[in-house]
Amino acid sequence: MKRIGIVLMGLMLGGGAASALAEEGHSSGPEDSGLTAKEIVQEGIPDKGVAACQSCHGETGESSVPTYPDLAGQYESYLSHSLRGYRDGERDEETMKEQAKNLTDREIDALAGYFSSQQNSLAIPGSE
Ligand code: HEC
Repeated sequence: MKRIGIVLMGLMLGGGAASALAEEGHSSGPEDSGLTAKEIVQEGIPDKGVAACQSCHGETGESSVPTYPDLAGQYESYLSHSLRGYRDGERDEETMKEQAKNLTDREIDALAGYFSSQQNSLAIPGSE
């Protein structure tokens, strides 16, 4: 009888420790929105203070304003590296730091995939 009590207590303690660990893993870093890249581009992630990327970069990543870089057709690895740079402090630029600071790896990879797969219609000089 005594032995069963000890085993039960061990199980309860073990379970508690495991769920405490799971919670800790969950709360570290930004939470994933579960949104698709297209949704983030068009509507942002209001809960995390992320603006709609299209308001500056255009829906397909072709900006009409020269101060906002074109993202359409850019290498996926370059885009995801840039976004991680803003998020993790390697790139020090206020506007994009604010946008990227709460993005998860999944969101960054999805956004990089989205913009890299867009057609860039920039004309090649002299081609027309
Ligand atoms: C308020 C305007 C604004 C919004 C909103 C915005 N950006 Fe930017 N973005 C900029 C500016 C300005 C730069 C250039 C920053 C610099 O000089 O490093 C930039 C740069 C970038 C770059 C680097 C491009 C390069 O060639 O190195 C990426 C990638 C990027 N933005 C992605 C996004 C994504 C994804 C979103 C949406 C989550 C977003 N941006 C939202 C203004 C914005």
